[in-house]
Amino acid sequence: MIKVAPSILSADFADMNAALKKMEVSGADYIHCDVMDGVFVPNITFGQIMVKALREKTSLPLDVHLMIIQPERFTDEFIEAGADLLVVHAEASMHLCRTLQTIKARGVKAGVALNPHTPLEVLEYVYDYLDLVLLMSVNPGFGGQQFIPSSLEKAARLRESIVKRGLDIDIEMDGGLSAGNAKAAIDAGVTILVAGSAIFGAPDPAGVIARMKNPK
Ligand code: DX5
Ligand code: ZN
Repeated sequence: MIKVAPSILSADFADMNAALKKMEVSGADYIHCDVMDGVFVPNITFGQIMVKALREKTSLPLDVHLMIIQPERFTDEFIEAGADLLVVHAEASMHLCRTLQTIKARGVKAGVALNPHTPLEVLEYVYDYLDLVLLMSVNPGFGGQQFIPSSLEKAARLRESIVKRGLDIDIEMDGGLSAGNAKAAIDAGVTILVAGSAIFGAPDPAGVIARMKNPK
């Protein structure tokens, strides 16, 4: 089952409620929340207060993508705010294993995100703590960027190591995805597709989500 997680980074920040309602009736499986601190990435978005506000307005699960340094400082707060899935960047967490353990101990699904240049090898000793791996298919920081093609081979290699280990781990891909390249991502083993501009920039978001889940 392929899932689609629309990124509200591309929604109207002054009218998030409308964006949530639209996604609820468009077949979205998650709401992808891009938290940026202006240090780990060259952009600032929002924090746990926004996640809490979104939580109060929608029943869709919240997929929280932390693009912040030392994410362990805030994991508890994002969990309390209502994150269902909490994703930290491997590059940003000094004690990645402990960070994942802490998230999982609170009954929340834990994920690790990798920048395009970060090798899969950093996952080697944390597989047992993972519910999902988020592969960045653009350099994080902004919506609407161009898909980096080598992400597909990376996803395929990751799927292979997950299968080899007999684990059940989702692969989420984030950046530059649309109905046009969803099939390539799915064929490479991706199970959760994030899309911002392709969904919120379209006149018919439900159609885009449906085509991403079942690409020709
Ligand atoms: C980028 C974010 C993405 C972004 C995707 O740093 O992590 O989630 O919103 O936007 P699109 O789909 O427009 O590339
Ligand atoms: Zn994201």
